[in-house]
Amino acid sequence: MSSGPNRGQRRNPLLRARFEAEPAPSMTRINASIAFDKRLWAEDIAGSKAHSAMLVAQKILSPEDGAAIAQGLERIALEIENGEFPFREEYEDIHMNVEARLSELIGAAAGRLHTARSRNDQVATDFRLWVRAAIDRLDLALKRLQEALIDRALEQAATVMPGFTHLQTAQPVTFGHHCLAYVEMLGRDRSRFADCRRRLNESPLGAAALAGTSFPIDREATSSALGFDRPSKNSIDAVSDRDFALEFLSAAAIAGMHLSRFGEEIVIWSSEPFRFVALSGAFTTGSSIMPQKRNPDAAELVRAKAGRLNGSLVALLTVMKGLPLAYGKDMQEDKVPLFEAADSLELSLAATEGMVRDMRIDAVRLRRAAEEGYANATDLADWLVRALGLPFREAHELTGRIVRLAEKRGVSLGELPLSELQALAPAITSEIYGVLDISRSVRSRKSFGGTAPERVRAAVAEARRRFLE
Ligand code: ARG
Repeated sequence: MSSGPNRGQRRNPLLRARFEAEPAPSMTRINASIAFDKRLWAEDIAGSKAHSAMLVAQKILSPEDGAAIAQGLERIALEIENGEFPFREEYEDIHMNVEARLSELIGAAAGRLHTARSRNDQVATDFRLWVRAAIDRLDLALKRLQEALIDRALEQAATVMPGFTHLQTAQPVTFGHHCLAYVEMLGRDRSRFADCRRRLNESPLGAAALAGTSFPIDREATSSALGFDRPSKNSIDAVSDRDFALEFLSAAAIAGMHLSRFGEEIVIWSSEPFRFVALSGAFTTGSSIMPQKRNPDAAELVRAKAGRLNGSLVALLTVMKGLPLAYGKDMQEDKVPLFEAADSLELSLAATEGMVRDMRIDAVRLRRAAEEGYANATDLADWLVRALGLPFREAHELTGRIVRLAEKRGVSLGELPLSELQALAPAITSEIYGVLDISRSVRSRKSFGGTAPERVRAAVAEARRRFLE
């Protein structure tokens, strides 16, 4: 045993029996996961408690040893919570750090905890528990963002803004309706995470290294003690798949994509030429050189986090691809991308919720933009169909000529005199001005799922019932 100053070079004392040489320093470093998997400590201790209680119930472990183990684990939990736990790289990962400390605290009994268990089923169990808790946190964060959007939707149910396609003004919509579009996306994000949670909630504990165990364990008992729905059916599958993590990362990448679109919209909307919304200093930064600037950094970063989320998904897909069954150390690389994705998404959701609640919405600018962009051209064409009986294609053509005329005059459609309209189509009457009013335009879009303020108010009430209760 080298007793040199480089502690990192010592072989894991729990596993060194059959090795003559010390591990190379780079081996110790590449092998150790404690720096990141310490985040699994609570799940690891919960799993060990459930396992040891089951061993006692099955008479595989004496009640005295079981009690010592339980007390030792509780003491370790306290040490970790208080920041007093000695995390050591030579013990590689969280599982062996806990076990090593346990044996320092309670002696020989600690060595009995690992009966009928392997780190392979242990880590699979811990990780599932961690992902499950992350899903519950994210569900809450998604719900909070939905609530913020629903609140703004009600407040802005009748606020007219240009709706865009190709980022060109298309038709007037209401700001509330636009907010509710994101509420729907986030609702599907929540249901994707819920699906993932349902499938992942099976207990790998007791699969042992890969083949199960000859000890008379009770997998149902540990499964229900840890809140799983059932033990997983196949021991090889239990220790070797990480599809639950991939489903989580897929759901996270999709949610991040949604948030990035909203982040992008906030960047555009708050830019000087648009000024549809303004963020307070709570979500913007100043420029060190241009005093007039108010940069929407939070929105930009939400937009950018999608890159990380995609990266995490691709990273783990690539790690898992082509891995022969069952466990391979490659799978230790599942944690960093997953933790990073969970953290990034949680933060993005909080920042987005903050921005939604913070932003000042400029109803006057929004309305003017809708008018300037001839967002009501479709209303005009529809009126020509309804009132004059023109085929839609002809109405479309005629409307195009009317828009060109308005552009030339530099006025909105409603500002064109009747005589000029009649010069293009004599049958036009003053009734046309009714549909050219932007507010009337949105009010008329009452079809199910449409943008009319009365629809938006009903949709708000429905969304509250569906998502927030
Ligand atoms: N730290 C390892 C991981 O995260 C734990 C499982 C190790 N199992 C093994 N047979 N080396 O995957």
